[in-house]
Amino acid sequence: TWQLGDFATETIAQIRQSVGSDRVICGLSGGVDSSVVAALLAEAIGPQLSCILVDNGLLRLDEEKAVIEEFSKHFQTDLHVVKAEEQFLAALAGVTDPQEKRRRIGHTFIDCFAGEAKRISGAKYLAQGTLYPDVIESGASRDGPADTIKLHHNVGGLPEELGFELVEPLRDLFKDEVRRLGLQLGLPEEIVWRHPFPGPGLAVRCLGEVTQERLNTLRAADAIVVGEIKAAGLYRATSQAFAVLLPVQSVGVMGDSRTYDDALAVRCVNTDDFMTADWSHLPYDLLSRISTRVINEVKGVNRVVYDISSKPPATIEWE
Ligand code: XMP
Repeated sequence: TWQLGDFATETIAQIRQSVGSDRVICGLSGGVDSSVVAALLAEAIGPQLSCILVDNGLLRLDEEKAVIEEFSKHFQTDLHVVKAEEQFLAALAGVTDPQEKRRRIGHTFIDCFAGEAKRISGAKYLAQGTLYPDVIESGASRDGPADTIKLHHNVGGLPEELGFELVEPLRDLFKDEVRRLGLQLGLPEEIVWRHPFPGPGLAVRCLGEVTQERLNTLRAADAIVVGEIKAAGLYRATSQAFAVLLPVQSVGVMGDSRTYDDALAVRCVNTDDFMTADWSHLPYDLLSRISTRVINEVKGVNRVVYDISSKPPATIEWE
């Protein structure tokens, strides 16, 4: 088959040695990190691997379906899908504070994941796609000593709750190294080049209260933003591109009548390490297509704005 590089070969050997004949649970999100972890584990200890995908209802359009399809095409391991949309929406009802959203999503995720993990008998290890920048960021401070940069729910929390030992084969790697590794492991470009997506998902891109209706609006707009950037051949030239639904209404005209609908921000950045980033200088005709399509096709949005803030002082996400 394909030729694996030294890192992959050594890591697979290490995984086999440390895991022995025990079962390993791996959370799958559809992102490149968890997919590469799953691919490494499938290669190393395939029949002893159980993957869990928590469908939190905060994923992008058709994302869950795509993950399940890709996953079953590429791996023959045990996959558990936890349908938890209602639970997450209930936990988020009435919440507008970004860090509170993250906390609630984190707790709900742990509940769902742990509930499913307990049903998988004999599991001793938990695999996580923690990268080197996660390790740094989760301990560092942006807003002063009392506050961590973002509560990355994928770092910490789970293993202590569940009493598992951790397997973190990507802990020393940067994103570009993870992508190269994914390609070596035979993952499709579609997964390997997917822009990063935050654990709390669309909840932190739906500013203000998160409701089913607002999520649907955001999902539809986001699919147009990403679809047009892909169609322009610029997806790989950008690091992260997405829509943000603002809790702001503004006046518009539609035919003879006045509208008072939501505003949508388009965020697209270029970055090497996600610690600093510049806004992407997208062509005006592309921005124009995005704006026209969103306003025409997404009900409830009558204004599109482009975010031209760099990080720092802004962050990539709006929450
Ligand atoms: P910021 O907004 O801090 O984002 O500039 C830097 C990178 O981290 C991602 N991000 C998150 N990822 N859980 C995650 O797993 C989170 O809570 C979270 N917040 C931000 C963001 O998408 C960007 O790639």
